[in-house]
Amino acid sequence: MLRPADFRHFTGRRAHLGLSGSVACLKAASLVRELIGAGASVGATLTRAASRFVTPLSLEALGAAPVYGAMYPEAGDPPAPDIYGHLEPAQNADCLVIAPATANVLAKLAHGLADDMLSAQALAFGGPVVAAPAMNPRMWDAPATRENVAKLASRGVILVGPVAGGVACGEEGAGRMAEVEAIAWTVLRAMASRDLDGTRVLLTMGPTREWFDPVRFWSNPSSGTMGAALAVSAWLRGARVTAVCGPGCPSLPEGIDRVDVETARDMHKAATDLWPEADVGVCAAAVADFRPRPHEGGKLKKAGRSELELTLEANPDVLASLGGSRREGQKLVGFAAESGDPAAGARDKLQRKGCDMVVGNAVSAFGSADNAVVLVDGHGRVEQWPSLPKTEVAWRIWDHVSLL
Ligand code: CTP
Repeated sequence: MLRPADFRHFTGRRAHLGLSGSVACLKAASLVRELIGAGASVGATLTRAASRFVTPLSLEALGAAPVYGAMYPEAGDPPAPDIYGHLEPAQNADCLVIAPATANVLAKLAHGLADDMLSAQALAFGGPVVAAPAMNPRMWDAPATRENVAKLASRGVILVGPVAGGVACGEEGAGRMAEVEAIAWTVLRAMASRDLDGTRVLLTMGPTREWFDPVRFWSNPSSGTMGAALAVSAWLRGARVTAVCGPGCPSLPEGIDRVDVETARDMHKAATDLWPEADVGVCAAAVADFRPRPHEGGKLKKAGRSELELTLEANPDVLASLGGSRREGQKLVGFAAESGDPAAGARDKLQRKGCDMVVGNAVSAFGSADNAVVLVDGHGRVEQWPSLPKTEVAWRIWDHVSLL
């Protein structure tokens, strides 16, 4: 499974995390670690209520600096790190994330109140704001909260959650703060360079499963990690991504449209239907080239056999179909999984399947976190990369796509 911290491409970016008073502060503190894992730096502000749940020291220990508390510290409060602290996130941060965001903080933001450090910082902040509400479901449903949330959304505040489930007081409903990963994905996207803004990307990923009888299928060990890394990288950089996923693919951020399929024929239908709406297609799936002719009449019985012959029928080739039906301006990228020379295989598939670029890799990359690839493109460029994490390979592939 891919985590936000696997995408270490956010060095030089800075997020400011505001925490308001909810037990979800305990969860939100780990956002600091997730964002720092992605290379970003993080500052934080605790409202007075939030500091009843977590301490400045906990956030500092997780890597946040500086950590702000009260605007006018009283005896016993930690000293303010900076007398102009209410302006510091506006000057330095690329994204303000308020998690958890209580009903009270949402109301302050909606009305422009600035009566404590966090609300003053938010009012001064001109960049992207992400809010992860957390509150009792009745408070979330209250007309005042509904109006405040609508107002914030219309101003461009990005809301993540809340999600439905049991809340701390024992009631059920929408009010639980979204998972930290979902919030972190949204923050990274808000801070990213967005060089793929608006690009519509269609991806295939993972294996396909070709059923022989109700309990047996023909498949391969692809985990879908390379495709998922490509989907997430493109989405983080602003693309609108649709992923056609074979069985067992990793979970993806919610902002990515996901179509789950099982067989090569399902994948072919989904991808060819979606292709006219895409600007870039990337076929990273390990599609089964053949499928067993299904056994009629339920589970095949052993029936004393010492061997079994299967007849396999050819499956459609998704990449070749996309290559054969391209419209002007569409870009198409394929993969080549080779047990021989990946560059030769990639060159051959570039021509045969009508691609702009083919990424060749060894079949041993199946299921692994790293990949050593060779890129071959229609301009005759050939690049051999060393073994790198698949997330890094994916990021660089998107850099290369803009050269096509
Ligand atoms: N592909 C596809 N549909 C298929 C087979 C392959 O879309 N039925 C795509 C893969 O997603 C990949 C590329 O074609 O982008 C090459 O796949 P690969 O398995 O390396 O090669 P094959 O085309 O199957 O050819 P061979 O098995 O002869 O190497």
